[in-house]
Amino acid sequence: MTRFPVEEFKNLDTPFYYYDLNLLDRTLAEIKRSARDENFVVHYAVKANANPVILRKIQASGLGIDAVSGGEISAAIEAGFRPDKIVYAGVGKTDKEIRLALEKHIGWFNVESLAELEIIDQIASSMGVTARVAIRVNPDIDAHTHEYITTGLAENKFGVSLKMLDKVLERARDLNNINLTGLHFHIGSQITEHEPFIMLCQRINDLQDELETKGFKFADINVGGGLGIDYSDPDRRPIPDFEGYFKTFRNHLHLRQGQKLHFELGRAVVAQCGSLVTRVIYVKEGETKRFAIVDAGMTDLIRPALYNAHHKIENISDPHGELHHYDVVGPVCESSDVFGKGELLPYIRRGDFLCLRSAGAYGEAMASGYNCRQLPASFFSDM
Ligand code: LLP
Repeated sequence: MTRFPVEEFKNLDTPFYYYDLNLLDRTLAEIKRSARDENFVVHYAVKANANPVILRKIQASGLGIDAVSGGEISAAIEAGFRPDKIVYAGVGKTDKEIRLALEKHIGWFNVESLAELEIIDQIASSMGVTARVAIRVNPDIDAHTHEYITTGLAENKFGVSLKMLDKVLERARDLNNINLTGLHFHIGSQITEHEPFIMLCQRINDLQDELETKGFKFADINVGGGLGIDYSDPDRRPIPDFEGYFKTFRNHLHLRQGQKLHFELGRAVVAQCGSLVTRVIYVKEGETKRFAIVDAGMTDLIRPALYNAHHKIENISDPHGELHHYDVVGPVCESSDVFGKGELLPYIRRGDFLCLRSAGAYGEAMASGYNCRQLPASFFSDM
């Protein structure tokens, strides 16, 4: 269970992210243990959190990287990741980013369209190199998650549809400066059931059978990320069920001889180790409601405003006070700048610290400077 050193917080400016590095370490150890198969390769999806301290810890644990921009490739290399352990996805890779990836000799590109494939070939040819690519396939699977974070349905900006796949694969095989190494999938994020992953395995099995008859063989299969976490009770299961997750693939995916299976986990790696810590500026009595107005806003943690997500809120200054209902809101000039409505919380006073739990993924990484606000700082447990 994450412990918050509230006395130490008193000297700090709020809001800030507080990371429980001990929990991160235990999470990474569990990933290593449960993805023990020799042919399993786990990449960390940097988009979830690119804080350098977090990245260095993840690097030390031996994971690879899933990057979606030149900036993420650079951040990963800066943190010590070997370029050949980086895979690079994204529907809109610019020429400059493609060149950077080729110069750095990253593992491979997860290619999302025919247009992109041709440009990568051209740029690789102009540089006198060969680009390793996997084709991102849109497997048309409903991940039962929020519409903004589901990506695997048929018509989608991501990936190549099953109908167009043959054409793209044939082109990849023909192009001189392309080395076709694998197939890439990602069905969505915050997936809390096994079933969508099982369906993905079955889809991949069928697809491999079919493509083999057409002469395609792949060294790498990449199933993307998506393993969800428990937002409602972060202390119940601070470490996600990696054992069950990897077992699903072990049991349901028919890998070919020598084939490697890649995963790109973001949220499940870092979400539970991070909390957003904020001070209460005012307690405002409304006509029917009581508002706790805090100094963190949607600029620090946008998930509630953007996805209607809920992060558990705790009063860490006085966890045992009498319970009252509060709307917990931020200072940003947007009515969606709300962290919780009718939250039952221990009595709140001006100056109390509240924390928003499970914010290690897509929290700090999605912060913005809207309203000329400063980006949140970060602090770390001393283990
Ligand atoms: N691989 C690909 C190709 C992805 O697009 C993503 C996430 C991942 C891996 C990592 O997925 P994860 O294991 O974290 O579920 N900002 C949203 C989530 C967006 C996810 C985008 N893609 C949120 O705050 O919920």
